[in-house]
Amino acid sequence: MLRRHGPKIVAFLGASVLVVVVAVIGKMWWDSRLPGTYSVMDYGHADYGGGPVSSPHVAHNGTGHEVSVADLRGPQAGAPDARFALTARAATIRLATGRAIEALTFNGSSPGPELRVKQGNLVEVTLRNENVDQGVTIHWHGVDVPNAEDGVAGITQNAVAPGQSYTYRFRAAQVGTFWYHSHQVSSSEVRRGLFGAFVIEPRGSAADTLDLAVIAHTFDGIPTLASRGENAFRLIVPNDTAGRQNVRAGTPVRLRLINSDSAEQRFTLAGAPFRVVAIDGADLNGPTPLDDATLAIGAGGRMDVAFTMPAGPVRLSLVGTTAAIGFSPYRAPPRGPEPPGPAFDPLTYGTPAPTRFGESSSFDRRFELTISRKPGFFNGDPGLQWAINGGIYPEVPMFVVEEGDLVEFTITNDTKAVHPMHLHGHHALVLSRDGVPSSGSPWWVDTLDLQPGERYVVALRADNPGVWMDHCHNLRHAADGLTMHVAYAGVTTPFRVGDASDNDPE
Ligand code: C2O
Ligand code: CU
Repeated sequence: MLRRHGPKIVAFLGASVLVVVVAVIGKMWWDSRLPGTYSVMDYGHADYGGGPVSSPHVAHNGTGHEVSVADLRGPQAGAPDARFALTARAATIRLATGRAIEALTFNGSSPGPELRVKQGNLVEVTLRNENVDQGVTIHWHGVDVPNAEDGVAGITQNAVAPGQSYTYRFRAAQVGTFWYHSHQVSSSEVRRGLFGAFVIEPRGSAADTLDLAVIAHTFDGIPTLASRGENAFRLIVPNDTAGRQNVRAGTPVRLRLINSDSAEQRFTLAGAPFRVVAIDGADLNGPTPLDDATLAIGAGGRMDVAFTMPAGPVRLSLVGTTAAIGFSPYRAPPRGPEPPGPAFDPLTYGTPAPTRFGESSSFDRRFELTISRKPGFFNGDPGLQWAINGGIYPEVPMFVVEEGDLVEFTITNDTKAVHPMHLHGHHALVLSRDGVPSSGSPWWVDTLDLQPGERYVVALRADNPGVWMDHCHNLRHAADGLTMHVAYAGVTTPFRVGDASDNDPE
């Protein structure tokens, strides 16, 4: 009997197991699909970092009332000190070699205009969308603006549709190098050109300095370096070859290097000793001269370098590309490329200085953010997915804080890819990397490039209420689910994301 039916039983059991496996996988697939519209507040799970558990709908802001991000605006009254109009439209731009790119632009150029304001200025920017079908927003990357001015479609506002406009107002409280970019379908819109430099100068900065923002961006696979030109209109032309600027010997030069790409970029500066004077818009303390260091800047990150123009030429190069800018005293021939020198390490650079908190502070909350890769479904698509603390988006944590908290984050990259992690609305102090304490200048970041296997501990003061994105600035990774939020207890968003909402921040 058994002998006769054995094969059938085995086949039956095999088939049953198969049915169960298919059912389980089918359910995983079904559950992974995101609804047409949803609130990011309804997804994932709250993580209180060991601090007090607060109902997300009860505010701890002194009033006890729930606050909408839409009410967390910049100053609405008063005449702005700096006013800009940015119009988003599709346009053909030309690289320095003449190559045409079908780009998305602000005011017809990409990068868009270099916006400069003074510290303390009330800034007003009116965004108009002429013809970008998917909609546009402007996020002020690294500027710790009030939440409603943060420009994230589906979280702090609705994407601005063609024919519509939206006005941002905020006080420029920081000093330094920042950038702006669309945060609607950003994985495509930033790559295609919707970005520009945003510089906040200290009051009364030296007029004789050549102060130039330089943006590294890859257009249609072609790496470029773009800066304000010397031409009459100061047009910004992306150089896919060696551009040049005339600079008188003895002139102080400050280059504000910005990486608007989704991958790390490496810069070299040859011909003059230089100092790295700021990272992510925060000045470094006691920066020492460097000779041939290679500066690796993660996606979305910035470094400011300063030098005095020597009698000979200086060359800023984007390593591994033909993109470069030559700085030459009048008529001097430009300098050729040089092999990259040793890697610059901010963990040990500069001189320590007192900070408002540090490794020995007592923290109100401690969060772990561990990035890994695992098989599963992301919005119905099977494959190897990014995971945060083991969960595939939207099963990621929502870090909940209260205003005033001192918060520590341990960020671990358990993958073989580089992840430039960016938290909106805050700057964090780097405490250690792989267990080695930061020993140079205080190192503040808004975008932290994590190499494979690295672990950083950073700390911040929760002083800017809102719902803030915390995501990988390899924008493809973010679009593939490497994104989550830090929410203040009692703050909610009325905006919705999802295919049917016209809001897709990634
Ligand atoms: Cu520069 Cu969430 O972005
Ligand atoms: Cu990533």
